[in-house]
Amino acid sequence: MKFTLAVLPGDGIGPDVVAEGINVLNRIGELYGHQFEFKHALIGGCSIDAHGVAITDETVAMAKKTHAVILGAVGGPKWDDPKAPTRPEDGLLRIRKDLQLFANLRPVKTYPQLLDSTPIKPDLLNGVDMLVIRELTGGLYFGKPKKRWDTPRGRKAVDTMAYSEKEIARVVTVGFEMARRRRQKLTSVDKANVLTTSRLWREIATEIGKNYPDVKLNHMLVDTCAMNLIRNPRDFDVIVTENTFGDILTDEAAVLAGSMGMLPSASLGGPKLAKGGTMEGKKLFGLYEPIHGSAPDIAGQNKANPLATILSMAMLMRYSLRLHKEADAVEKAVQSVLEAGHRTFDISKPGEPWVGTKEMGQTVREAIQKA
Ligand code: IPM
Ligand code: MG
Repeated sequence: MKFTLAVLPGDGIGPDVVAEGINVLNRIGELYGHQFEFKHALIGGCSIDAHGVAITDETVAMAKKTHAVILGAVGGPKWDDPKAPTRPEDGLLRIRKDLQLFANLRPVKTYPQLLDSTPIKPDLLNGVDMLVIRELTGGLYFGKPKKRWDTPRGRKAVDTMAYSEKEIARVVTVGFEMARRRRQKLTSVDKANVLTTSRLWREIATEIGKNYPDVKLNHMLVDTCAMNLIRNPRDFDVIVTENTFGDILTDEAAVLAGSMGMLPSASLGGPKLAKGGTMEGKKLFGLYEPIHGSAPDIAGQNKANPLATILSMAMLMRYSLRLHKEADAVEKAVQSVLEAGHRTFDISKPGEPWVGTKEMGQTVREAIQKA
């Protein structure tokens, strides 16, 4: 089969890791007889430098016409001036919003081989396997008013947390659908003791839950969730939560996996899914990126861990292309290189030898076997 993919490597280590993701897709193409056409474009700081904006209209339009989007990372000190009219992150927020990528899937699992690269006691971590679903196009990130102004008594600023029934229902539905395919446990995370949006969220989650009698729904306050993620991470199966809570909780959850360099993500949506309804059996439009940032201090040094991006390619094949065997083959290959002891810098122990981005990419490619 033939697929067209948009490639937005972005800044910092984005290009380093995306190159390895693409190499892996090409390897899958050879083995399984698929053809991938890659359409490259700029996003983030490099786009600001070239075009004055963090993403151009043309790039958004191009991405919309592909099967899926591959993204690296955006940002860096060069574009960090708080007074700058535009920031690299604006490109990411715009593409999420314009492509209606409302459901951000961030799976967090621990690999037995990496248990001691985390600061948490290994016996708490063995067997952690959760999926955090973060609402991605609403809430505090996008609500209006959002502005800053001067008053006689000093400066003032406002951000707005707003959610509509439709926005809540569609992402919570994705939560139930995913839980149904996993261990049938959904934790809806909110701050219903304080926030009105959270009380609406909780009400809607409970209503939708009636259609999923096979899934056990429980509600958890976000502060409690932050604590339980560390205290009892194995207890979680699927978590669904609003944008800002999801942003914070997923960085926290990343610590469980040992390194941000291990965690992939999928942002699903597109016009069809955004209207609501089930995702069952559908080829979904999505954007796939590692959850880590642009790490400018190691950019271009062949030092970044490409595994999060490579695992994101597995998610791309599974959700947007419905190439399940191929996705499994990539995940198995990653598992096997870890078992064989290959480590990039971020997951190596002090004094232990480690390999570069390219070498890790190549090792994974060589480990991919056709099932
Ligand atoms: C993330 C990042 C982004 C976010 C930034 C870069 C805008 O932290 O994807 O988690 O806050 O959503
Ligand atoms: Mg974040």
